[in-house]
Amino acid sequence: MSRLPSMSLIEAIENRRSVRGYKSDPVPQHIIDEILSLAQKSPSNCNVQPWQVLLASGDSCDELRNRLSSAFLAGKPMKPDFPSDLKFQGIMRQRQVECAQALYGAMGIERSDKIGRAKATARNYRFFDAPHVLFISMKKEFNQAIAVAIGIYAQTLMLLMTAFGIGSCAQASIAYYPNIIREYFSLDESEGILFGISFGYEDSQIDANNARTNRADLEEVVIQKT
Ligand SMILES: Cc1cc2nc3c(=O)[nH]c(=O)nc-3n(C[C@H](O)[C@H](O)[C@H](O)COP(=O)(O)O)c2cc1C
Repeated sequence: MSRLPSMSLIEAIENRRSVRGYKSDPVPQHIIDEILSLAQKSPSNCNVQPWQVLLASGDSCDELRNRLSSAFLAGKPMKPDFPSDLKFQGIMRQRQVECAQALYGAMGIERSDKIGRAKATARNYRFFDAPHVLFISMKKEFNQAIAVAIGIYAQTLMLLMTAFGIGSCAQASIAYYPNIIREYFSLDESEGILFGISFGYEDSQIDANNARTNRADLEEVVIQKT
């Protein structure tokens, strides 16, 4: 193993945030390997380790960027493998709106500016210019228990990236054209694409990276009986 970062777990949790603008410098392969090796320690039901990681760097990342962006810009219908048309209500809808306000506010995009918002959305399909992207898939027949383990794995991965000074952004949006990803990685139809994570070194000059999100107070999310 090469030199490990000195960031504590708490610092990594506090510092991780979604990065939506990257420098072109690639992350050295040995660091990517180290992060992926450590993330293998994630827990899962019966230790089945259900995460299938599809990683693209260099020309492969650019090729996928071009294919997904072209599909989005051409208005190709999105056909996610798992339900994605969630309608949030009440407090969750409020948080969703605040999240959008934080991002568009940082980018100087008005709520009424439909073209500006569409351009911001389109950046998803370019992986925010990240030099790497990975997708996580799982068998379509699997259920929530497996998806939970994959979520835990993804957070482990992103915290490790933070600890190594690497920015990341989980992206559900880039899983909305799963056929493109399946075809590129030669996966069969039984493999469902859950979401992607773009990653690389943050470009702090990009406006979107000034967005900050809040979290609810504990009493909103914890019910404790003593
Ligand atoms: C499963 C998942 C899917 C997400 N999909 C997207 C996405 O498609 N595009 C995007 O810009 N951000 C996406 N995000 C990032 C969230 O907007 C972000 O995590 C949330 O607003 C909290 O902000 P933070 O990550 O900066 O703490 C996603 C996050 C998760 C966990």
